[in-house]
Amino acid sequence: MVETSTECGPAVEERYRAGSPRSGAAFERARAVMPGGVKGAYFYNPYPLTVDRGEGCYIHDLDGRKLVDFNNHHTAQILGHNHPAVVAAVREQVSRGIALSAPAGVETGLAEEMCRRVKSVERIRFCNSGTEATLHAIRLARGVTGKTKIAKFEGGYHGSHDVVEVSVAPPLDKAGPAGAPHSVSTAGGASPNAAGEVVVLPYNDENAAERLLARYRNELACVIFDPRAGILAQRPEFAQFVCDMARRHNVPVIFDEIVGFRVGTGGLQAHFGIEPDLTTFGKVIGGGFPVGAFGGRADLMDRFDSSRGPTGFFQSGTFSGHPVAMAAGLATMNQLTPDVFAHLNRLGTRLRNGLNHLFAERDVDATAVGVGSLFSIHFAGGKMLNYRHLARTDKAAAHRMLLGLIEQGYFLGNGLLMCAVSAPMDERHVDGLIESVGGAL
Ligand SMILES: Cc1ncc(COP(=O)(O)O)c(C=O)c1O
Repeated sequence: MVETSTECGPAVEERYRAGSPRSGAAFERARAVMPGGVKGAYFYNPYPLTVDRGEGCYIHDLDGRKLVDFNNHHTAQILGHNHPAVVAAVREQVSRGIALSAPAGVETGLAEEMCRRVKSVERIRFCNSGTEATLHAIRLARGVTGKTKIAKFEGGYHGSHDVVEVSVAPPLDKAGPAGAPHSVSTAGGASPNAAGEVVVLPYNDENAAERLLARYRNELACVIFDPRAGILAQRPEFAQFVCDMARRHNVPVIFDEIVGFRVGTGGLQAHFGIEPDLTTFGKVIGGGFPVGAFGGRADLMDRFDSSRGPTGFFQSGTFSGHPVAMAAGLATMNQLTPDVFAHLNRLGTRLRNGLNHLFAERDVDATAVGVGSLFSIHFAGGKMLNYRHLARTDKAAAHRMLLGLIEQGYFLGNGLLMCAVSAPMDERHVDGLIESVGGAL
């Protein structure tokens, strides 16, 4: 086997600094007034590129370099940057007012489109982020069932509020046995009760998940399940198992599809053949603007209908369902036809297959996983089926590859995770990335 940990790290970093002096200066300026300079997800060593503009599948950094964007703003920009239909819809909405102190009508259009596309969604509510969506969906499940605990999967990410920040990336020496993971809160300042409110299930281990659910079923308000579609190897039968298991134990399922709408017109749940009780959405459905949504069965969601008096359930927000975000989201959804998904999925498959062929040919311990237009590259041998597998990948090798690819004109997700192809790409972009990964190896 070829060792993936080489000693070229400092050299790659030196070249990165030499190629991006303006980004370096922008970062120094930012860190004087914002802790860490940038939000957590943007940061990678020695500093992130500052991006001047984006257009189609390209971004241009402050130092004048043009890069193919396989990051797509954490997978949200499925149509690439500044798609003419999205820009036109935004301009049109802005020309009528940015925020109007009342419904603007456009949110109903997006709600209708979501209910039409996603079979399990009879009603939907909009908010500003995926974090808000999972918060409200969990709160609804707790209110309806009168139970407090939730079950989530080890390594699953559902945003940044207390209970979902449990066991997202627990240190392995605190994580307990793989088949019965400990509940570990690593969010500084989170309620000390948070860890005790979460039952942690292992991904892709049917027996262990069933054992834990059976044990806690009477205390559980919901199971929240994010299949980690761009990060773990996908087994549709496991998604089906999670829904069936929860139903057997009479526990509602919240399917976190915030990295959804990347496989087909009915979302990831149509691809997996499941019908969850509630679903959370984000990213793609806002066309690049801040958005979140949660929806599902009418009998659950109608608890938010206070038009005939208080129901005890409340969800609002100054900017929830913001008309500009709704207009951008609706324009984006209208572009996402079966043909566009077929194009995206073809490119995604070509990319993952091409990379895996390359790794096999070079005898490198690495793998590309994902589904539809999503992918991640992990430096490790074996299957990527759960958090324990992910925790043992070579992060330093992934980081060197990230910087090496920037040098060659390709911008991927931090740690080579949660990357995506976008609609304006074609085979040349995908093959170019495969060739560049080969060069960087
Ligand atoms: C599966 C999943 N759920 C929830 C979230 C949180 O969404 P947001 O960053 O919009 O709060 C994310 C964000 O990456 C996510 O990937």
